[in-house]
Amino acid sequence: MHLVVADEAQKTERDRHTYAAWGSPLTVEQFLQREQRLRAHPWSRDTLRTWLLCDGSGRVLTSCETFRTPSYLRGPDGQYTRGDSFVIASVFTEPALRGHGHATRLMDLVATELERTQPGAQAAVLYSDVGARIYRRSGYQEAPAWDWHLPVGQGDAGLQVDSLLEDADVPAALARMRRPDVPFYLWPEAAQVDWHLERERIYAELLRRPRPKACGAVVNASTALWAMMARYGELVVLMLDARSEEDAAALLEAAGAQAHKAGLARVVLWEEAGTMPWVARLPEARREAREGSLPMVRPLREGLPAAADIPFARALWA
Ligand SMILES: CC(C)(COP(=O)(O)OP(=O)(O)OC[C@H]1O[C@@H](n2cnc3c(N)ncnc32)[C@H](O)[C@@H]1OP(=O)(O)O)[C@@H](O)C(=O)NCCC(=O)NCCS
Repeated sequence: MHLVVADEAQKTERDRHTYAAWGSPLTVEQFLQREQRLRAHPWSRDTLRTWLLCDGSGRVLTSCETFRTPSYLRGPDGQYTRGDSFVIASVFTEPALRGHGHATRLMDLVATELERTQPGAQAAVLYSDVGARIYRRSGYQEAPAWDWHLPVGQGDAGLQVDSLLEDADVPAALARMRRPDVPFYLWPEAAQVDWHLERERIYAELLRRPRPKACGAVVNASTALWAMMARYGELVVLMLDARSEEDAAALLEAAGAQAHKAGLARVVLWEEAGTMPWVARLPEARREAREGSLPMVRPLREGLPAAADIPFARALWA
């Protein structure tokens, strides 16, 4: 068995298989289009690799993708070193080949390959839809995963934001956001955030539904970015930097109003320690154990904190 970096034809061939896992409600042709468009996006062009585990005859046993994303590790002197972390996505074994340890072997080989070839590698990260057990075998540890479900509404006139953000405002919005004050964190670049908006654009077109008018908002020094998940009828908060309880309420109210206008059922926010007490006090806010997307981390160098001590904003998901 050996690891192969897929070429374009091999990637398209894999799309036909992975449709079974991730295609619904798109048709096969629409899913192939989705994959082509996502791969053509600047973030993917710059950071994406598709990995295949092949047997001696070249048959593909299982596959996954990695996206490179910036991460920051604090040293003993208090200074951060910028490195690379790798988000593992789309781990897929065809049904007839499952249960033989292929996905586990792929996880092991990809991590070893990253350690060997990427001098700045800090961590491998994935968001498991199949629980923690399979990936723990390959050295991944999970972080707690809670969501806040917030109702959508017309927006309260008393809770105004200073401005709503459009796609082109993402770089400036990211630049004004405060980074976490923790030993290790991942921080997206604007292209990575735009990749989420590209997903929104693709699904809006293919499922023929309107996009929300705004992808975020600012109030005082606080900022939020969000994206529509058309498939699930949700607006997901990608990043939230709220400097006060009032700001958090105003930003999430604005998100709810946008969700309402776009015909979505709820706003979903991944819980983060900094804003959790404020979010918990919002009217009708519900805390839910997250289904799927369980953040898991495998250090690719020494000195990383436990996974539970690493913050995961939704923008870091792939
Ligand atoms: C998950 C998947 C990649 C595993 O591939 P595989 O080659 O069979 O993996 P391995 O043989 O190394 O490990 C199989 C383990 O995964 C577990 N597993 C598979 N699907 C699971 C699920 N939906 N929930 C929980 N565990 C699951 C199996 O029970 C098995 O566990 P066991 O060995 O303790 O009995 C494969 O089932 C698949 O492609 N599923 C559909 C796509 C998907 O959900 N991918 C994961 C996204 S995070």
